[in-house]
Amino acid sequence: MRGMDKKLKILTYGCQMNVADSERMAGLLNQIGYTLTDDTDAADLILINTCCVRATAEDKVFGQIGRFKTLKRQKPSLILGVAGCMAQKEGENLIKRAPHVDFVLGTGQSSEVARVVESLELERKHFVDVSNVSGDIPSEVFPLRGGQVSTFIPIMYGCNNFCTYCIVPYVRGRERSRKPEEIFAEVNQAVAEGFKEITLLGQNVNSYSGGMTFAELLTGVDKIAGVERLRFMTSHPKDLSDELIAAIAGGKNICEHIHLPVQYGSDKILKRMNRVYTVDKYLKLVEKIRAAIPDVSLTTDLIVGFPGETDEDFQETLEFLRAVKFDAAFTFIYSRRSGTPAAIFPAQIDDETKHRRLDELMKVQNAISLEKNLAMVGSTVEVLVEGASKTDEKIFTGRTRSNKLILFEHGDEHAGDLVNVKITQAQTWLLKGDII
Ligand code: SAH
Ligand code: SF4
Ligand code: F3S
Repeated sequence: MRGMDKKLKILTYGCQMNVADSERMAGLLNQIGYTLTDDTDAADLILINTCCVRATAEDKVFGQIGRFKTLKRQKPSLILGVAGCMAQKEGENLIKRAPHVDFVLGTGQSSEVARVVESLELERKHFVDVSNVSGDIPSEVFPLRGGQVSTFIPIMYGCNNFCTYCIVPYVRGRERSRKPEEIFAEVNQAVAEGFKEITLLGQNVNSYSGGMTFAELLTGVDKIAGVERLRFMTSHPKDLSDELIAAIAGGKNICEHIHLPVQYGSDKILKRMNRVYTVDKYLKLVEKIRAAIPDVSLTTDLIVGFPGETDEDFQETLEFLRAVKFDAAFTFIYSRRSGTPAAIFPAQIDDETKHRRLDELMKVQNAISLEKNLAMVGSTVEVLVEGASKTDEKIFTGRTRSNKLILFEHGDEHAGDLVNVKITQAQTWLLKGDII
């Protein structure tokens, strides 16, 4: 089949790291003749890049794999592969449960995807490799990037933190950092492709150890001509340095937004989660950040229903939210991940309580998000234009430096332009305004 125009459909679940990995796998498959399609029926190869951070993420993937069964029957030449975190976790089990899956590649093996597909083109047999969780994607791999304005660049892989609820360290291996030269080269290449906004990625960027500090790396990327906006995620509160705060405050195009997952608002639960900071330490950090970076936007992640959570703990978390006033929060119901310590902690919380607490938490945070957005009405913000909204051609979407979504009626702007927008309306999750 070499040389023929073969079609590849990639479905990506999970976090930004998976988006970046998918683009790299697409790059590798492109070298052996595959081009991307949106049409699953037209695909010769379907690759599902999976997530297993919560049971809901896994259910979605199993549902999706199941739906491809008929397609495989109708088109036996179709190759179906599963990669990513759930592939790493389940390995052989995936084939046992769904024999129409042709191959399973773990997170450390994604750079082998082209070799595996080529061998399957020649001879069909099940292939599973999840043997090396800490394997890396070589830097020479040229990613086939999606989008046209904003792109993700991994600076490190893996995680050493072992928060007791979290499966990521088991499916992504230990921390390893890419070299600054490789990162700078990739940023230059993305800018040359026309990307305006770069987001540096790692499970905990603060522990970057590629030969300079993360603050130095960020400052280095900020100096690259053409990087009009620079973002990063995720920061762990335990080691967000003064140096990093100063780098953001003094940066040119480093956006004033920090995603700083707190996970919970009571010391007892934070300790059980192995987050290694206290509520007080987090609050002091927020104070320091806000003093150094006026207009900074802070977002967070929170988990409700962690084992041992009492009503008292939960009320403390609500109080904590009211005290910090995050711009936005991503809220999750605790999901038991087998193999993690918390999965066998006593006093697991029942579903009804989990859902009730999630609703209450969201209600409190939504009111805060709305209040913060309402305070922006009347002000003028710089917006990076992303393109037409999905529902209305006349409306463009874009983001503020603080990462807020904004909708506005466009004139002759294009995706990638920086424009000034006066905010006229605020909702919980978005703003509306007029170009000035
Ligand atoms: N490395 C990042 C994010 C990793 S996963 C960090 O440390 O912040 C993204 C989010 O998923 C986490 O911040 C956490 O809030 C949530 N999460 C992780 N494991 C979970 C679980 N078992 N149940 C529910 N939410 C979980
Ligand atoms: Fe998971 Fe904690 Fe690592 Fe984030 S820091 S990936 S929550 S173990
Ligand atoms: Fe990301 Fe999900 Fe893996 S959140 S690191 S894709 S388990």
